[in-house]
Amino acid sequence: MDEVLAMLSGEAYVSGEKMSEALGVTRAAVWKRVRQLQDAGWPIVSGGRRGYRLLPHDRLEPETWQGALRTRAIGRGTVRYEASLPSTNTAVKDMFREGAPHGSLCLCEEQTAGRGRLGRTWVSPAGAGLWQSVLLLPSIPPERVSVLTFCAALAMAEALEETAGIDARIKWPNDLVCGGRKICGILLEASVEPGRVECVVMGVGLNVRPEAVPPELTGQAACVADFCAEVPPRRRILCAYLERLEHWTDAAEQGGFNAVAPALKACCVTLGSRVLVTPAAGGEPFAGTAADIGGDGSLLVRTDAGEERHVLAGDVSVRGVMGYA
Ligand code: BTN
Repeated sequence: MDEVLAMLSGEAYVSGEKMSEALGVTRAAVWKRVRQLQDAGWPIVSGGRRGYRLLPHDRLEPETWQGALRTRAIGRGTVRYEASLPSTNTAVKDMFREGAPHGSLCLCEEQTAGRGRLGRTWVSPAGAGLWQSVLLLPSIPPERVSVLTFCAALAMAEALEETAGIDARIKWPNDLVCGGRKICGILLEASVEPGRVECVVMGVGLNVRPEAVPPELTGQAACVADFCAEVPPRRRILCAYLERLEHWTDAAEQGGFNAVAPALKACCVTLGSRVLVTPAAGGEPFAGTAADIGGDGSLLVRTDAGEERHVLAGDVSVRGVMGYA
């Protein structure tokens, strides 16, 4: 970690003297390091006797946010930040194989092969979003692992409310929508052994700036900037998300689905809506009304023919959301 950068992460002036004392180096060494950081593009200004100040910025290097993160394990352990990666989910799987602990995190500015659900591509241009994945080693039975998707969805919805004042809603099972358009997607990938979850990779992609939304998706997708006058720095959204993720995953480990159900149902735009279900495993699409979410994470749909059907996986279009008229 760059200690000079970490000391300036509060974006307030810090005197050269204070930094040299705290870091045990000369003031000339501090000045030299500041120059190197400036040359590397960091917006650091010097204010004479007041010292140095990092101007407001939207960079994601761990030094700029780790000091502000209030979690026990999530976002700690191994933290990997890169300018460009194929996919943070793939990177976290590698980190797990290399022994990274529970809560480890990978984030990047750009993904060149970002992955979405059902084999889709997730467009992830440089600096336009928050592309990150967390490694979870949870004590949850394999058949209950889908509750973790809800934990991530709730965590991001709460983080957006807290940092940007945005009222995002969960579209079952794992999209966040705002004003009828998708703003965030979640890709949970679990490695399961008989009776035990070996690891879970919780990948979340949040569109922050308009460049994150490909032109052909503007009717269905949105970004944080569409809903707030001043976009918060991505690291603030990240820290709030990691803190809420720890809260909800702790709750789910202790109390199972019931611990997250009230918050989930209150935040879910799908419940009570007309839905069109296209089963992922094939089969005839059917329409109905979404009535409830079951303890196994399934969506209970009352079909127009009066049947009750549990939808486990599949694509659910919600009337009035993401272009479904
Ligand atoms: C979806 O809605 O289809 C899920 C999209 C998930 C995208 C995120 S971005 C970070 C992580 N890395 C990936 O390759 N995918 C997830």
